[in-house]
Amino acid sequence: MSEEHLLTGSAHSDATAERVVTREQMTAWIEQLVTRRGVLSGATTIGLAGLAGLILGGCEGQQGDTGPAGPAGPPGPAAVGPLEFNFKVVSLNQFDQVTVPEGHSAHVLYAYGDPISPDLGEYSNLGTESGLEWDHRAGDNHDGMHFFGLNEAGELDPDSSNRGILCVNHEYINQPLMHESADVSRDLDGVRNSVDEVRKEQRAHGVSCIEIVRDDATGRFTVVQDSPFNRRITALTPMDLNGPAAGSDLLVTKYSPDGMEGRGTLNNCANGYTPWGTYLTCEENYDLYFRDERTVDDESKEVPAEIGYANFLAGIGVRVPGGRYEWATLAGHPEEQDDEFGRFNVAPMPGLSADEDYRNEGNQFGYIVEIDPLDPQARPRKRTALGRFAHEGVWPAYPVDGQPVVFYMGDDDQLQFIYKFVSAATYAAGSTGAPLDTGDGYLDEGTLFVARFDTDDLTGRQTGVWIPLRPDNPELAAVNGDANSPFAGLFGTLDSILVHTRAAAFVLGATPMDRPEWGAVNPRNGEVYFTLTNNSDRRGFEDADPLARVAGDEGTRDEVTEFLADREFGEVASNPRGPNSHGHIIRLRENGNEPAALGFAWDIFVFGSGADGSANFSGLTADNEFTDCDGLWFDSAGLLWVQTDGRQPDGNHNQMLAAVPGKVDDGGIDAGNNDVSLRRFLVGPQGCEVTGIDMTPDRRSMFVNIQHPNGAWPADPDATMAGESGRARSATIVITRDDGGPIGTA
Ligand code: FEO
Ligand code: CA
Ligand code: CA
Ligand code: CA
Repeated sequence: MSEEHLLTGSAHSDATAERVVTREQMTAWIEQLVTRRGVLSGATTIGLAGLAGLILGGCEGQQGDTGPAGPAGPPGPAAVGPLEFNFKVVSLNQFDQVTVPEGHSAHVLYAYGDPISPDLGEYSNLGTESGLEWDHRAGDNHDGMHFFGLNEAGELDPDSSNRGILCVNHEYINQPLMHESADVSRDLDGVRNSVDEVRKEQRAHGVSCIEIVRDDATGRFTVVQDSPFNRRITALTPMDLNGPAAGSDLLVTKYSPDGMEGRGTLNNCANGYTPWGTYLTCEENYDLYFRDERTVDDESKEVPAEIGYANFLAGIGVRVPGGRYEWATLAGHPEEQDDEFGRFNVAPMPGLSADEDYRNEGNQFGYIVEIDPLDPQARPRKRTALGRFAHEGVWPAYPVDGQPVVFYMGDDDQLQFIYKFVSAATYAAGSTGAPLDTGDGYLDEGTLFVARFDTDDLTGRQTGVWIPLRPDNPELAAVNGDANSPFAGLFGTLDSILVHTRAAAFVLGATPMDRPEWGAVNPRNGEVYFTLTNNSDRRGFEDADPLARVAGDEGTRDEVTEFLADREFGEVASNPRGPNSHGHIIRLRENGNEPAALGFAWDIFVFGSGADGSANFSGLTADNEFTDCDGLWFDSAGLLWVQTDGRQPDGNHNQMLAAVPGKVDDGGIDAGNNDVSLRRFLVGPQGCEVTGIDMTPDRRSMFVNIQHPNGAWPADPDATMAGESGRARSATIVITRDDGGPIGTA
């Protein structure tokens, strides 16, 4: 099971047991969806067609308000021409291997523990290496990644397919697979006592930047072990804090009394990249890593109300009372250096001030982090202007000279939000100078917006607005100055708004979503897609209990109870299934196809479901049934790739599919024609999630990550099949076509 399911308790025990929503409005929404699709495929009844005419008429009107519809959009690199799959469908299965279509092959490129320095030996897979070696070995749980092509001179070359830097996130760790014993070492009191084990765990987090080269004859990639580009970024790597929150009192620690620096990056889930050639890594469930000594002696192990409240809205502090991996329990160990363990205890120390302890260490995480993939000496920069929350990933709109730079982002937690950042500076291609300095110009100043998804009950028009998170937003200012509000004083300055992004978004009435995971921007028309993976906390209106989440294991307090009481966490058109067991993909088109627009139109592209599920609204079949969509990516041809992380239909393994996207208001996936609009491409080995994806520019090599397999794959690192023995390892694989052709579509 994925970590997110474990953490949020959102696991669903029966993937096909979707609760059918009976509410009138729900029926209407689905009717609309089916009707639009029916009209488009010409397969509807006369009665439905009449209704559809009304609805589509509304949509046409909407286009008048929102600028030109259709494929104009910001220009992307996509080829034009038809999109047709060039592979045969892969059936769901439970094999402990990677299954790819006939005529394709997959090979392991980079697995947990692999050395990226010639000074280190091959990984034993026995857990016997020193923890410090993970400064030069592959981290665990590969997730988002990006390929940066290099020319022969070692410079960035977006057209190079034979040589490049691959940046790979290492989201979290599989403790039972990384040490000599499946259990971590503990003293007689049950307290962790191995400094080396914790050092390994901290270093198995973060990012790898590795040079890889392709043998053009075989199409096989290998890691250049002695490349000067090779780099590990870990939970200890020194970083700069940039943007409006840099230097804020909220970021002051003993390590950085001026609040301008921090150490390390954590829980790096999905990713992004910039038009100026840098990598973006995203800090997702960072709040799991910290311990608060005020909570750990509590027999109930419940986070006290005050802290639970803060965590729910602001992501501050401690979600697991002792800290997920209990790193802070080694604080004060005779071998501890530079508070390497103590920094994970965020309890204020009696008699000390913020610059003498680590009460604010948690505030240094939850950001987008920019990395120069070509300069291993360059300190990563945390871009606080893009907000602080459980950042899944960050996806650029296609940049246009003279226009702001725009990035889309999701906050992956139940009932959290979709955001975008619009730079203050306008884009000018071909910037010179150090890439991270270029990043300062675009990413340190701008406006963070959060999305509200609306539906007009009369016309059925589905529109949305982007709400700015700024101190001059009158609604935020009013709450900030309201002494009776639980949020009084939080929103007076931009640094505080950004550190408390979730709280600000909540106050402003953003639409709580069903766990926004990856986004993707269609290179053909600029439309933006987001996976909403699932949400057990989406309740029906009749049984909606908006306080369940905060009043449950996270506590509550009176003012918050009052504030939340009028919030609706039941089904809404943008998240119409409650509980949402299977997930769906939503998409939006910016007004006027301008990424910086203040409003948008939206629809639902596809609903996840088993083919025989009772809520199979998209008419999925055995060839494309899926649930729990997570990874999402457009290739340069314009195919949309969908990866899953959850319990797939009939207990099968996680998978990856390819989709032919249309455009907003076309009815979404064509229910009667699924085999040409959505088709399964890959099934992963036992226990894994399939996440992270990129291709070489020539589309002949596709990179995919297999995260947290738990069988024996890949015992033979050259094979896709599981071997006889050996512990499972997360790994990057490379998929090629045996005839050397492009993957996915011609
Ligand atoms: Fe780390 Fe939301 O997936
Ligand atoms: Ca995951
Ligand atoms: Ca994910
Ligand atoms: Ca997930």
